[in-house]
Amino acid sequence: MAGKHYKYVILGGGVAAGYAAREFVKQGLKPGELAIISKEAVAPYERPALSKAYLFPQGAARLPGFHVCVGSGGERLPPEWYVEKGIDLILSTEIVKADLASKFLTSASGAAFAYEILIIATGSTVIKLSDFGVQGANANNIFYLREIEDADKLVDAIQSKKNGKAVIVGGGYIGLELSAAMRINNFDVTMVYPEPWCMPRLFTAEIAAFYEAYYVSKGVKIIKGTVAVGFDVDLNTNVKSVKLKDGRVLDADIVVVGVGGRPLTTLFKGQVEEEKGGIKTDGYFKTSVPNVYAVGDMATFPLKLYKEMRRVEHVDHARKSAEQAVKGIKAIEAGKTIEEYDYLPYFYSRSFDLSWQFYGDNIGDTVLFGDNNPTSSKPKFGSYWIKDGKVVGAFLESGSPEENKAISKVARIQPSVLDLRQLQIEGLQFASKI
Ligand code: FDA
Ligand code: NAD
Repeated sequence: MAGKHYKYVILGGGVAAGYAAREFVKQGLKPGELAIISKEAVAPYERPALSKAYLFPQGAARLPGFHVCVGSGGERLPPEWYVEKGIDLILSTEIVKADLASKFLTSASGAAFAYEILIIATGSTVIKLSDFGVQGANANNIFYLREIEDADKLVDAIQSKKNGKAVIVGGGYIGLELSAAMRINNFDVTMVYPEPWCMPRLFTAEIAAFYEAYYVSKGVKIIKGTVAVGFDVDLNTNVKSVKLKDGRVLDADIVVVGVGGRPLTTLFKGQVEEEKGGIKTDGYFKTSVPNVYAVGDMATFPLKLYKEMRRVEHVDHARKSAEQAVKGIKAIEAGKTIEEYDYLPYFYSRSFDLSWQFYGDNIGDTVLFGDNNPTSSKPKFGSYWIKDGKVVGAFLESGSPEENKAISKVARIQPSVLDLRQLQIEGLQFASKI
């Protein structure tokens, strides 16, 4: 088959792709060796901005301001950077067929790309309510948020439905960040989620109680323990209201849905080993197919610290896994070895005036410390997770850079604790003295 040939191809043009490209250049890359193929129309950017500063009513973030690698304090790589480095940035190009045996990718328009080494970085896609057959889920003004195109559509709707009613479906990351963003845009906001408290995959009931009360104090209404089962539409198929399972009906000009993501592995089904919903890799992000690597959201990798295979859907891992894969590729070429990936999970979020960080693992007993009164002028609190007498995870709201560093150290070192009561009294001091 004819087609353009590259030594390295990165499939996907998101966070991991951008950080991998930078690492290739750091390690030594010749012009024409690398291509990035992305279905998005823009060069890799820091995706977290889409649910935060991109939606601000004033001074909103816009490209080229948040191209990678500014999110981790690095140099910003605008489209010109790729040209300068001889990297082919092939945008608006969706790959619809990947043949890992013959090392060929084919795009929707029929273009073919051959590679020697492939890095799969296709990330995740959103789970849609239409996937569960929710009635009316394809109506206009029901939004999901994954790519910049989605964010642009939402921004247009925010402009045209000024001061309207927004219903946010889902109580996870998107649910919490988007409820805040819509409220800041002066929408009347109602959040709906099935669980007894928000962000249950990370938050304890006590942590969630703080955020829920804070959101309520900002005017967000919260409906828990039920789900959206249908939507009413007007004559133009614009959404009019959301029907809940408990019988309630909520008026809505805009609905934003955040009910989870799913790694984009479909192109590779049956060609490569999978585990826990992602493509299985080793500690160098090599898959079961020679010369094929998988990084970011879609990699299920050995999390050395916990001796367990995990998938992580957060930006810090997308960046670091991409760098590790490229270092590994380059080390093999040079006949050298590098250390296996040794990742400390790190998640964060920001909304309203709040900002939290979490490091480690959220299993075992928990100890809450600090001021978690949502009406305090400057609440600052945290939580430790303790398993087998060791602190394995730490969460902190409104920490300074030094304090966040301290809790990350605790999660990495896993110090022993004998007395949980004492740990609660010491609170942040416990981390600061490690
Ligand atoms: P990513 O999704 O970034 O990139 C995948 C790329 O592949 C996309 O460009 C896509 O178009 C492309 N692609 C997919 N299939 C393709 C195909 N067949 N052909 C061509 N191209 C294809 N995390 C965090 O820690 N803190 C935060 O605050 C946030 N905030 C946040 C906000 C929003 C709105 C989202 C959606 C996500 C976050 N995240 C986050 C999660 C974080 O952004 C995510 O984990 C990383 O972007 C994952 O990086 P990847 O490169 O793996 O996928
Ligand atoms: P999520 O998994 O964080 O949350 C999904 C939420 O929707 C859960 O609370 C879930 O129980 C709820 N839900 C499930 N079915 C529902 C239904 N039928 N009706 C109402 N609620 C329902 O996923 P998300 O918030 O959609 O985020 C998508 C992806 O983007 C994830 O990979 C996430 O990690 C990433 N993201 C991360 C950040 C961050 O790290 N700060 C920010 C935004 C997005």
